[in-house]
Amino acid sequence: MNQNGLTHPIFQLVSEASKSLGFKTYIVGGYVRDLHLNRKSKDVDFVTVGSGIELAQAVQKRLKNSSLSIFKNFGTAQIKTADWEFEFVGARKESYDRKSRKPKVEDGTFEDDIHRRDFTINTLAISIQKDDFGSLIDTFNGLSDLKNKIIRTPLDPVVTFKDDPLRMMRAIRFASQLDFKIESSTKEALKSEAKSLSIISQERITDELNKIILSPKPSIGFKHLFDAKLLHEFFPEMVKLQGVEIREGKGHKDNFYHTLQVLDQICERTEDLWVRWAAILHDIAKPPTKRFVKGEGWTFHGHEDKGSRMVKPIFARLKLPLGAPMAKVRKLVQLHLRPIALTKENITDSAIRRLIFDAGEHLDDLLILCKSDITTKNKLKEQRFQKNLRNVEHNIALVEERDRIRNWQPPIKGDEIMNLFDIKPGREIGIVKTALKDAILDGIIPNNYNDALKFVIEQGKKLGLQIHE
Ligand code: CTP
Repeated sequence: MNQNGLTHPIFQLVSEASKSLGFKTYIVGGYVRDLHLNRKSKDVDFVTVGSGIELAQAVQKRLKNSSLSIFKNFGTAQIKTADWEFEFVGARKESYDRKSRKPKVEDGTFEDDIHRRDFTINTLAISIQKDDFGSLIDTFNGLSDLKNKIIRTPLDPVVTFKDDPLRMMRAIRFASQLDFKIESSTKEALKSEAKSLSIISQERITDELNKIILSPKPSIGFKHLFDAKLLHEFFPEMVKLQGVEIREGKGHKDNFYHTLQVLDQICERTEDLWVRWAAILHDIAKPPTKRFVKGEGWTFHGHEDKGSRMVKPIFARLKLPLGAPMAKVRKLVQLHLRPIALTKENITDSAIRRLIFDAGEHLDDLLILCKSDITTKNKLKEQRFQKNLRNVEHNIALVEERDRIRNWQPPIKGDEIMNLFDIKPGREIGIVKTALKDAILDGIIPNNYNDALKFVIEQGKKLGLQIHE
């Protein structure tokens, strides 16, 4: 076979160390798969018929500038160099004790080890014994599945998924990342075993979900998740987006498929996971805000506000980070209709300044979301909408250049207002601060300290506050 992927000195070192210990060792899993897909990987898994820890210890002694970590409980060891990671493990019989869910370390043959793996494309192994160094071992026709772009389990899929239900997420993740089809009996087992996902921790599920979202066309993954009812297990709000209701002959779009189209479109414009999450959540409150107005049709009034309030609980439940990423997604959901509102005629500079202020550092991502939110099938309409948004972008740039409002803060802050009137924190400060911000954004007073101070004093007087001399 092509030995381009085996040029790192470690492969020869492992071969020699393994021979001197009397073990047989193989490269397995993702590295072999990715080698055949021409994907560069620096993560290598070795399986040895013997002790993975002893082998790693022997190899590390011979490899300069490397570090060794031993995980005694798991019977595994890891060697790290500046940019490579090598895992060593002894061949095992079964990956998990089904009752306790704890990894079970039971020695097995190389064949046992290959049989317990998740997909045929991950069962490919390369022997590194001296006499057949580099030869491919393809027990389950993994190579042909790689060529034909098929995800299939090596054993009965029900058994493979019962062994570790996270593999259902992995099947879909590989299908989405690699644009592979899922073989039909494997797909059936996704449906029949979907409920068993409940024994997997949310962190591990979300890890796979994020890999789906970061794939080039995540709709592939989400459609599988929906069809197998796996999505129903951990993301019911998204499931509720699906479906069309018709009343008085009037329907609305299917918001699930609309959302997936927005997500695919945003992936052509950004690699940012959180902006992609904003696409997933932008219409999440359409089902709970849906109303039918007689004679008019369907409305989703306030879905951007309600949607933005749904972001935090969804992030918390899915164990996504609640700091800056959550705040960013919440803001993008909240503001996702605003740039479109600015495509109307006679828009004032003040409305544009307000959007720049409200979006702050997320303005560019907001425009990316809005451009991706156009899913009309009518080409002429699409061109018109995109052109309108480009105009908004142009007008924003003009106002920005003049006023430099992005990341702007009013020239007088809350503590200065407190000192000025000698008052404690309270509602008056909020009232004065908001009035000052609005006055500057609306162009009523210029954006400088002296005019701001005059304005604040006037506002304070209106509230019955005295200046502290
Ligand atoms: N594996 C498995 N079942 C799992 C996880 C992993 O059978 N739930 C096996 C597969 O053979 C896999 C190997 O362990 O190829 C290594 O797993 P991992 O490093 O998680 O995945 P990779 O296949 O290397 O893919 P990626 O790096 O894209 O996650």
